[in-house]
Amino acid sequence: MTAPERPDMVGWYDPAQLLRTGLQTVLTEVFATRADYRLLLALGEPQEPRSFADREVFWMDYVSDTGDGWRPTTAVLHALARTSIAVDGEALPRGDLLLMGGDQVYPAGSIAEYEARLLAPMRAVSPPEPPSPRPLLLAIPGNHDWYDGLVGFVSTFAQKGSLGMWSTFQTRSYHCLRLPHRHWLVAVDVQLQCDLDVPQRRWFESALKELREGDHVIVALAEPTWVFRQQYAKDHGPQMRSLLRYITEERRARVVLWLAGDLHHYRRMERTDEGATPGAQYVTSGGGGAFLHPTHTPSLQRLQRGRRGETRRFRVSAEYPTRPVSLALARRNLAFPLLNLRFGFATAALYTLLSWLLPQPDLGAIDQGVGPAIQRGLVQVAEQPSAISLVVLLLVAVVYFTDSNRTAYRVGAGLVHGASHLAAALAATAAGLWCARALGVQHDVVARRGVMIAASGLLGYWLGGAIMGVYLFVSVRVFHRHGNEAFSSLREEGWKNFLRLRVDASGISLWAFGLDRMPERWTVGAWPLPQQPAASAEPRVIDAVKIAAPAAE
Ligand SMILES: [Fe+2]
Repeated sequence: MTAPERPDMVGWYDPAQLLRTGLQTVLTEVFATRADYRLLLALGEPQEPRSFADREVFWMDYVSDTGDGWRPTTAVLHALARTSIAVDGEALPRGDLLLMGGDQVYPAGSIAEYEARLLAPMRAVSPPEPPSPRPLLLAIPGNHDWYDGLVGFVSTFAQKGSLGMWSTFQTRSYHCLRLPHRHWLVAVDVQLQCDLDVPQRRWFESALKELREGDHVIVALAEPTWVFRQQYAKDHGPQMRSLLRYITEERRARVVLWLAGDLHHYRRMERTDEGATPGAQYVTSGGGGAFLHPTHTPSLQRLQRGRRGETRRFRVSAEYPTRPVSLALARRNLAFPLLNLRFGFATAALYTLLSWLLPQPDLGAIDQGVGPAIQRGLVQVAEQPSAISLVVLLLVAVVYFTDSNRTAYRVGAGLVHGASHLAAALAATAAGLWCARALGVQHDVVARRGVMIAASGLLGYWLGGAIMGVYLFVSVRVFHRHGNEAFSSLREEGWKNFLRLRVDASGISLWAFGLDRMPERWTVGAWPLPQQPAASAEPRVIDAVKIAAPAAE
């Protein structure tokens, strides 16, 4: 068999990738809200809710945020593809259904990326003779699936075909499953706005018309709203709130389990206040292959204030990896320029541009040292409106990049970060002038410019990356901000996770599995799965919880 192409983890700080990500984010924000593909899907092939209520036991696997580097994605899928995983002498069989919880592919959903980063690994771990019946696969999209307007997602998951050993059955980007013993799965597509479209909300209300008082509902959505509510004041939109009211107030059912990815770690929180379903579980499990997110941040207070002033109390019950591991990994940002070799080209270009467009420091000031040269440069900048515009533009961009929903923090941290780059760019210019003088070419315009470009480029490459690394390290370590940026820079393959759930007469049993390290080598052609990790990559239980079944009627 031919080994599939094995893409590396996405280099989020490659300048070309940074540009693409920025462009895709802006385009999707504009077009997804104005030309919502979900509305077209609602007009297409009808979709009926699916029932497994006649089963005595139903097994379901959950994985989210797959499709980054080949190695972690394949290692997680390999664990999911095995016929069973032994836990304390009990064999937990592969799920009858695999639920993919969002962000199935990185950096952005496109047919080619799904093929290379998800479908190839799925085929690589599937046996030549698929099991009968094939396990089912249901997927809901995350923001990265939405970055091509959902075209690649629909082409991949909504065609009633097979992906490796799994077979798909959905025709829309959301679904509802009736599970045994008065359990339901509501898997929603919240697009980029934390909300449903109106046809989707109506579809769920129709699909849930047999929901009865006291039934237990699992809600799967692409973002852990219970975390983002605290971190970014981001909450469910009106249609999603309406659906939740329908479930809990009109039908008087109970949402006992929330599942989401988007944050690439494992964290289980329990709702502890009296107002909600007591003991409801909120699980973030985004460990399907994408770079790791920290667990020491965001700092989740136990008390959250809701939209209408209601109070929510949570307890963090389990996290993976542990906070000490997360903190230790954060330190790697101090080696940012070495971990993100191409990022330096962006800062080299920026510093060179600044050196060229901003007034040059007074050559005479160089004699007094770098400090006076920078001081003189700042005065010259202040005297030139065009230079001030450039400086303001840079500072606005850096403030915009700053990760906070508090304006004062955003402006303060952004200005410090931006000013550091400006000071470094001025220092690089001063160093270039000093070198030109030392070489005796300060009066030769072309030679002097050449020396300055070399100095700005070289210092910009290393200093720019170093400043970014220190900024990210301090942000994520001290201020609990930039968890995404400070960990996407690490491209960490380890610490992946997924879930296995059993729904039976006793309720829902949930096991979370972790894979600490990725196998270094793979054997091709071994049985029963075509690709076997050559080194040990055993998933281990990192958390387990039981949710008792609804009371007997
Ligand atoms: Fe993600």
